[in-house]
Amino acid sequence: MKAYLILHGANLNLLGTREPQVYGALTLAEINARLQMLAQELGVSIRCFQSNHEGELIEALHGARAWAEGVVFNPGAYTHTSIALRDAIAAIGIPVVEVHLSNVHAREAFRQRSLIAPVCVGTIAGFGWLSYALALRALVERSGTEVAR
Ligand code: DQA
Repeated sequence: MKAYLILHGANLNLLGTREPQVYGALTLAEINARLQMLAQELGVSIRCFQSNHEGELIEALHGARAWAEGVVFNPGAYTHTSIALRDAIAAIGIPVVEVHLSNVHAREAFRQRSLIAPVCVGTIAGFGWLSYALALRALVERSGTEVAR
């Protein structure tokens, strides 16, 4: 069975109570549970991991090389700052989709620049937890088509 990593970055452990008007009312555990149900429907498996630490996110990306077909990644604020995460994505050679709960392009100017977008296969933003669901679907579907790496 094909396996995928769902990777959550900084401050996403606080979902549910963190600015719910921006990020929604679902907790991270609830989002992961919904994604587990979707994975079952799609006939794939997922592993979910969250960290507030850049280095741990880098190590999760490196580790994914050994077992994952692709990665759904919301780096949180590291999106806008981290050359190290960008380099990790470029290094691992498996497809990564950048996701955001909020529409970062409709927010502050500093959120409108992503350092990781150029090394991701695509970006989905603004659909709340559905951003993750859409990204997982896209990864699973593209892995059976000619656009796959
Ligand atoms: C976020 C958007 C980022 O700008 C912010 O720093 C986050 C969450 C999102 O999912 O909308 O922590 O990645």
